[in-house]
Amino acid sequence: MNSVNEIRSTFLDYFHRNGHEIVPSSPLVPRNDPTLMFTNAGMVQFKNVFTGLEQRPYKRATTAQKCVRAGGKHNDLDNVGYTARHHTFFEMLGNFSFGDYFKEQAIYFAWNLLTKEFCLPKEKLLVTVYHEDDVAADLWKKIAGLSDDKIIRISTNDNFWAMGDTGPCGPCSEIFYDHGDKIWGGVPGSAEEDGDRYIEIWNLVFMQYEQVTKDQRNDLPRPSIDTGMGLERIAAVLQGVHDNYDIDLFKTLIRASEEATGVKAEGEFVASHRVIADHLRSSAFLIADGVLPSNEGRGYVLRRIMRRAMRHAELLGAKEPLMWRLLPTLIREMGQAYPELIRAEALISETLRLEETRFRKTLERGLNLLNEASHNLKSGDHLDGETAFKLYDTYGFPLDLTQDALRRRNITVDVEAFDKAMERQKAEARANWAGSGEEATETVWFAVRDRVGSTEFLGYETEKAEAVITAIVKDGKIVDELKEGEEGALVVNQTPFYGESGGQVGDTGTISGEKFTFDVTDTQKKANGVFIHIGSSKKGSIKTGDVVELDVDQKRRRKIRANHSATHLLHEALRETLGTHVAQKGSLVTPERLRFDFSHPKPMTAEEIKQVEDLANEIVLQNSPVTTRLMSVDDAIAEGAMALFGEKYGDEVRVVSMGQRVDPTKVGNRPWSLELCGGTHVKRTGDIGLIRIVSESAVAAGVRRIEALTGDAARHYLDGQDQRVHEIANVLKTTPQEALERVHILVEERRKLEKELNEARKQLALTGGTANHSEPDIEEINGVSFMGRVVHGVSPKDLKPLADAGKNKIGSGIVAFIGVSEDGKASAVVGVTDDLTSRYNAVVLVKALSEVLGGKGGGGRPDMAQAGGPDGQKAEDALKALRQNLTK
Ligand code: SER
Repeated sequence: MNSVNEIRSTFLDYFHRNGHEIVPSSPLVPRNDPTLMFTNAGMVQFKNVFTGLEQRPYKRATTAQKCVRAGGKHNDLDNVGYTARHHTFFEMLGNFSFGDYFKEQAIYFAWNLLTKEFCLPKEKLLVTVYHEDDVAADLWKKIAGLSDDKIIRISTNDNFWAMGDTGPCGPCSEIFYDHGDKIWGGVPGSAEEDGDRYIEIWNLVFMQYEQVTKDQRNDLPRPSIDTGMGLERIAAVLQGVHDNYDIDLFKTLIRASEEATGVKAEGEFVASHRVIADHLRSSAFLIADGVLPSNEGRGYVLRRIMRRAMRHAELLGAKEPLMWRLLPTLIREMGQAYPELIRAEALISETLRLEETRFRKTLERGLNLLNEASHNLKSGDHLDGETAFKLYDTYGFPLDLTQDALRRRNITVDVEAFDKAMERQKAEARANWAGSGEEATETVWFAVRDRVGSTEFLGYETEKAEAVITAIVKDGKIVDELKEGEEGALVVNQTPFYGESGGQVGDTGTISGEKFTFDVTDTQKKANGVFIHIGSSKKGSIKTGDVVELDVDQKRRRKIRANHSATHLLHEALRETLGTHVAQKGSLVTPERLRFDFSHPKPMTAEEIKQVEDLANEIVLQNSPVTTRLMSVDDAIAEGAMALFGEKYGDEVRVVSMGQRVDPTKVGNRPWSLELCGGTHVKRTGDIGLIRIVSESAVAAGVRRIEALTGDAARHYLDGQDQRVHEIANVLKTTPQEALERVHILVEERRKLEKELNEARKQLALTGGTANHSEPDIEEINGVSFMGRVVHGVSPKDLKPLADAGKNKIGSGIVAFIGVSEDGKASAVVGVTDDLTSRYNAVVLVKALSEVLGGKGGGGRPDMAQAGGPDGQKAEDALKALRQNLTK
C-alpha cells in the first residue's frame, strides 16, 4: 500500500539517491519574504538561493514542504470541504537544482520516478509545455517517448510560473494524470479543462529569470529547477482514488471525527467532516509554527480557519469542543514526518480547546440571529451587511463563516455593506483615541495605524525577517523618504523587533535594504500595536515601499531573554520565601540587569536573599522547557497565573510557564511559575545560566526592590568579587582561603594596640610629656597645687580617668586637662581634691576654660567637671586664664 508517509519517503529517498540534500520543510511563516502571508510552495525557502543572494553548501535539494493557502492571494478557504482537491494545508514535494542540472535532467528525474518507482502507466500521463518551449517538448519526446498529442502547448500564464509580481520565474511543464473517462473533463487547454478527469500532479518550473520590476526581467545567474508535486494528489492517484479526501491520511482523520461525533461522513455531513479534517491540519501546523489566534494578520486567518471548523463541529452535533480531541490522531499520522507537532502538542491542544470553548459561548446565539435574519431570504438573495457585521463584531463570526453558513441555501452576503460597517466602527474607535489623554499628543501614530494597520510581531519565533517599509515618520510627520544621516522612525508590515512593554526594553539592531542601512537604537509600541523602529540612516536613503531586512541584535536579545525569564523565577521565589503578599510593583528588564519591585513591608535579611537566589537557581538547573500558551484572562487566573493588578489585558493573554513543581495532591507536575506575559523568554530555564541578586533596597513605603544579574553578567560580577579577595589576600600576604582568618587576627591585634596606645598616652599626659619624666609637673598657685596640661591623642572619654589619676598624684590640689582632637576641637576636665571643694568649685573653674575655648559653659560636680569648645588652638590660653582665676 502506498500510504502518504510511504510516498513522502519514497520521493525524498529517490532524490537523495540522486545527489539531492534532504532539506527540512521551512516554517509556515516565511522568514525571508515580506509580502507572503504563509509559505505556499516548496521554493519559498530557496528564493534567495535562486537569485544568487544566498549560498548553500549543496546544489541540489529535495523537500516535503508544508504549505498553507488561506488568506492573501491564494485563498482556498471558501471551497475547502466542498471539492475533491481544495485544502488550506497541503504538502508539496519538490526537487530543486540551483544552477546545477536543468530541463533534461529534471524531465528525466520526474519521468523515471513516476513510471519506475511509482509504476504509473505511461498511457495515463500527459504533459503541457509553454508554447515557445520547443526544447522541453523535444525532451519529453526523447525521454518519455510521448506522442505529440500528449505534449500540449499552452500559451497562457498557466505554463509560465512566477512566485509573485517579482522574484524568480520561468516557463514550466506540468504533468497530468488521466483519471479515466468515467469522470467528466477535457485535456488542458480544451474547453472542458476545468473538469476533474485530467489532474495536474507535478509542475516542473525551469527557473530562468528574475522579475525585478513589472517591466524588467533579468536572467538568473544560472538556469535552475523548481518542481512541486502535491502529496495529497499523487497519493490519490497511487491509492486509486479520485478524491484527495479518500486517501489514507484523510480517511483516518475523518474516521476519528466520525467516532468523536457519532455521525457518519455521509450525505450532508460529508463536507463538515472534510472541513474539520482539513482545518485541523492547518490549525495544528500553524500553531506549531508560532501563530496563535488573534484579530489581526496571520492570527486572524488562523482564527477564521478554526472557527469555520468549529461551526462544522456544531453542525455535526458535537456538544463539547471537538478539534482538540482529534489532535492525537493527527500527531500519530504526521508527527514522525513533522516532529514540531509532537513538540507543540500541549500548546496546540490547549489553543484549540480554548478557542472552541470560547466560540461556543456565542456560536449558538449568533446562529439564531443569522437564522432570524435570513429566514425570509431565498436562493440568490443577499444577507444585509449590517447583520453580517453584527455577527462578526458581537458573536465573533468571521465573514467567511457567515458566507459558509449560507452557502448551502445559495445566499450571499452584501460584502460592500459589511465593509462599510467595519469602516464606520474603525472611525468611531479613532475618534475615541484622539480624545484620550497622553495618546492624543501622539496622533501621528494613529494616523500611521489608520493608514497601514498594526505591525505583526514575529519576534517570538525569529530575530531576522524581511518586510516592507509601510511608513516613515520624521519630526512627528509622515514623510516618504529618510535621507542619509537623518533620524526618524520606520514602520514595517512585520517585524522581529520587540517594542518596549511590560518592563522589557525595546530591541536594537539594523534595518537594511539594497542601498541603505538604518541603525535601530530603540523600538517602541504605539497606537495599539504599531511598532516603530527609532534610529537613523547610516548609509543611503530609505523610501516607503522599500523591501528591507530586519536584524535584531541577537546577543543583546539573548541577554534580555535570560533576564526576563529570571524575573519570573525571582518573583515566584520571593513569594515562596516571603509569603504570598509579595506582588509585583514594577520591573525593568534590560540586557545588563533586571530590576524587580514588589510589595513587602521590611528589608529582606541576608538569609532571605540567599534563599530566594537558591530557589530561583534550582529551577535554572532543572533546565525545564519554558512554554507559552494563549488563554483567556479568566482561565489564566483560575489556573493561578500571576497578573499585574490594575493592568489592562486583552481578551486573550499569553501565559508563560517555567519550571516544574511536584505536587503530591495532584497528578502530574504543575509549572513552578505561571505568569501573564507578552515578553520574550528563554527556551529552557538552563539558558539563564545563573542568577545573582546584587542589591536589595527600599523604593517607597512597603515596596522593596531587588536587582539581579544573569548569565555572563552574573559570572563577571562574581569574577570581580573573586578578584578582590585575591587582591586582599595579596596585601595580607596570605591565601584567599586564609584571608578572613588573617583579617580577624589583624582586627584583634589592632584593638589590643589601640588599648595599649591609649594607656601609654595617658601615662604620657600625666608625666608631663616625656615617658621618663619622674616628677609630675606641679605648680603652686596661691598655696594650692595645680597640675594643668594640654594633651593630644587622648580621647575625651579618657580625660576623666586622667583627672582622677592627676588628683591621686598631687594628693591635694587642682588638676586641669585639655584634650585637643585631630580636627582641632577641645574637651576640658577640671578636678578638685575633696579637701579643697569648699574653696574651689570645679564647675566654676571649667567654665573659665570653656569661655576661652569658645564653648558654652560646662557641667559636673564641685570635685569634677567637664566642658568643651571648638577652639582647640586656644588650649594654652585657656590654662593661663585658669591660673589667673586661681590667683584671685
Ligand atoms: N513553484 C511551483 C509551484 O508552486 C513548483 O514547485 O507550483
